[in-house]
Amino acid sequence: MKKVFVNGYGSIGSRITQFIAGDPDIELIGIGKYSPDDKVHDAISRGFGVYVPKNKIEQFKNFKISGTIEDTLEKCDLVIDASPGGNGYANKKNLYEPKNIQAIFQGGEKITGENAVADLIFNSRANYVEAFDKKYVMQGSCNVTGMGRILQPLKEKYGKKIKRFDATLLRRWADLEDYKTEVKDSIEWTRKPHHNDDVKNYMGKDTPLFIRAFKVPTRQMHVHSMDIRFNEAAPSSSEILELFKNEYGVATLYTAKGTKDIRDFAETTKFSFKDTNMIHIHADMLEVQDDIVKITYSDDQTGIVVPENHLLMQAMLFKRNKNDAFKHTEELFHMEEKKRILEEHFAQK
Ligand SMILES: NC(=O)c1ccc[n+]([C@@H]2O[C@H](COP(=O)([O-])OP(=O)(O)OC[C@H]3O[C@@H](n4cnc5c(N)ncnc54)[C@H](OP(=O)(O)O)[C@@H]3O)[C@@H](O)[C@H]2O)c1
Repeated sequence: MKKVFVNGYGSIGSRITQFIAGDPDIELIGIGKYSPDDKVHDAISRGFGVYVPKNKIEQFKNFKISGTIEDTLEKCDLVIDASPGGNGYANKKNLYEPKNIQAIFQGGEKITGENAVADLIFNSRANYVEAFDKKYVMQGSCNVTGMGRILQPLKEKYGKKIKRFDATLLRRWADLEDYKTEVKDSIEWTRKPHHNDDVKNYMGKDTPLFIRAFKVPTRQMHVHSMDIRFNEAAPSSSEILELFKNEYGVATLYTAKGTKDIRDFAETTKFSFKDTNMIHIHADMLEVQDDIVKITYSDDQTGIVVPENHLLMQAMLFKRNKNDAFKHTEELFHMEEKKRILEEHFAQK
């Protein structure tokens, strides 16, 4: 059985931990915590061993911790780094490389420049097998992950018939549980959004993708509005919807009024963490004009990357056949069931 450690127990780390704890192929060694707060109790109450940095052990004297991160990593085959964006590189240099362990990094890190954590961004829809022989891989961020679920099926079906993809990303300001971050009454633009290069890392440098990104004052998901321009008359709306009908992690909804509508429904149906783990194509917003398909979809910011981390872990640890890996992820995440429930609830009236 492979031994896995999750370093960081915030929005992403706590979700990953909860799911992989249920994976019979994995021995979850524990989680890394850096601040002595209520989340330590949360982790312990769920049965997870809590490990802390050696130099912070004194700060945790009132908690029943299991040991230090430095010592416990010696026993691990792979670490899932879920630290705040930008910390992954230091962790790689100080912890993972010296201990010779494989590591998965999250989307807030870099894959170019001197602080690059890896040379590959993972997207299960586009490059699953490329992670097989890698020691370090970065899981794309939530927006970057969601885009692969739209772009890859389009690329496979239409290839060179597509002239360009122009996408505007409306990004949530903060996560649901993140009460430390104030949601400002402002719309902020991002100069040179990282998403463009990140998506091209797994889709290919020559992908004709052009992204603009804005941060909007909400905690409820991201929305992408994308124009897909063809070199000829664009396919019909029904052909586009048919293309995504059986895509894993893509639901087609007709009657959602906004992202909170979907999140509230996810809460009533008791989806774990209120996550849908997928993107939702808003079919009522789909339009075809001459050579352009205009598609709008929402992207479950925290939930979408969690099954992706599980798929990536299977590729890196077991080199598991892609179909078997998806089946195994489905056993833990039940995304087909979630998709069915969402599509029924938000069906065309
Ligand atoms: N949130 C999202 O929707 C989302 C989606 C996709 C990707 N991501 C990416 O996932 C990563 C984590 O984001 P997040 O939203 O989960 O952040 P977060 O909620 O702020 O959690 C970060 C966690 O990392 C811990 N930590 C602090 N210093 C650390 C260190 N040096 N090494 C390891 N862990 C450390 C923190 O511990 P303490 O609390 O104990 O200090 C906290 O538990 C980022 O790269 C982010 O860009 C986030």
